[in-house]
Amino acid sequence: MIFFSGEHVREAVSPERALAAVRDAFVSYARGEWTMPPKVYVPAYPAGDFRAMPALGGGHALLKWVTSFPGNPAHGLPTVTGLVLLSDATNGTLKAALDAGAVTALRTGAAAVLAAETLGRQNGGAAAVIGAGVNGQAAARTFVARGRRVLLYDLDANRARDVAERVGAEVAESPDEALAADAVVTVTPGREVVFGEGSLRPGQHVSLMGADGPGKQEIAVGELARVRVFCDDWEQASHNGDLAHAVEAGTVTRDDVVQLGDVLVDTAKGRQSDDDITVFDSTGLAIQDLAIALAALEGADELDLATVDIG
Ligand SMILES: NC(=O)c1ccc[n+]([C@@H]2O[C@H](COP(=O)([O-])OP(=O)(O)OC[C@H]3O[C@@H](n4cnc5c(N)ncnc54)[C@H](O)[C@@H]3O)[C@@H](O)[C@H]2O)c1
Repeated sequence: MIFFSGEHVREAVSPERALAAVRDAFVSYARGEWTMPPKVYVPAYPAGDFRAMPALGGGHALLKWVTSFPGNPAHGLPTVTGLVLLSDATNGTLKAALDAGAVTALRTGAAAVLAAETLGRQNGGAAAVIGAGVNGQAAARTFVARGRRVLLYDLDANRARDVAERVGAEVAESPDEALAADAVVTVTPGREVVFGEGSLRPGQHVSLMGADGPGKQEIAVGELARVRVFCDDWEQASHNGDLAHAVEAGTVTRDDVVQLGDVLVDTAKGRQSDDDITVFDSTGLAIQDLAIALAALEGADELDLATVDIG
């Protein structure tokens, strides 16, 4: 079994490669070629929660065991941490273990940008990323790799400045400047609403990445009711994403929501006019992790990786 540290994952898979791999994963899932049993949440509140995320596709099976512990950064620990296991689906052999934080960041940045490029206006202006933590940084890095100008906003101004320097983005002059960008990605802990009722303007796209578990919210229920809503996976997002609040309030139903993969395979419509406001609710899918793990395996020969014999 090969072991990929976080550094190895980042060396093996560039943001551009991650974007292409994650796009292919959404397509394969929409076509029914890749499958994904439901994500299991193991709550350990108020500190955080664990998630077990399986998927099957590309001749491999994957399990990600990963956390979300939002208070961790205050103690110098990452919010998201854990391990990804990748097995050969023809004989069950374990082929690789990968750092889950690095895999998660790459695929989360990729999904945020994929949704923005698929659903946002063509030739849109600057993109903004709200929340410049581990996963916000990955979204900013992916936009920059695509040649897009990026504005960063974080409650922690020092963090926004550091990350902007590291990835080649700019710090937004004010929260309002970031919130008004053509494409906005929110990657906050979801403790407070970022987009209140009536805040989005015609033509904007928002990828909501932060609210990926029970109780988290980045957009007001009333705002979701007046925009075109997309998600990564209805089952998952309607139970654990921003959508869960609107579904509970009865203001959004299955018929109001389109899955991103269905737009990519052309069985559903994406943006229909320059004035549409499009919102993508992401809770993070195991098929995205599978895409990154397979891409890392492709690049393994170029790296000096440790192997472990098991069994
Ligand atoms: N959808 C997905 O696929 C996915 C994947 C990974 C993480 N997440 C979620 O995204 C969130 C962030 O994860 P992370 O690992 O980047 O966390 P992190 O702790 O590294 O970063 C969060 C950042 O948000 C900033 N912040 C907090 N509230 C803010 C606000 N109101 N406005 C602007 N900035 C604010 C913090 O200062 C911090 O820099 C978590 O809730 C996590 O569970 C979702």
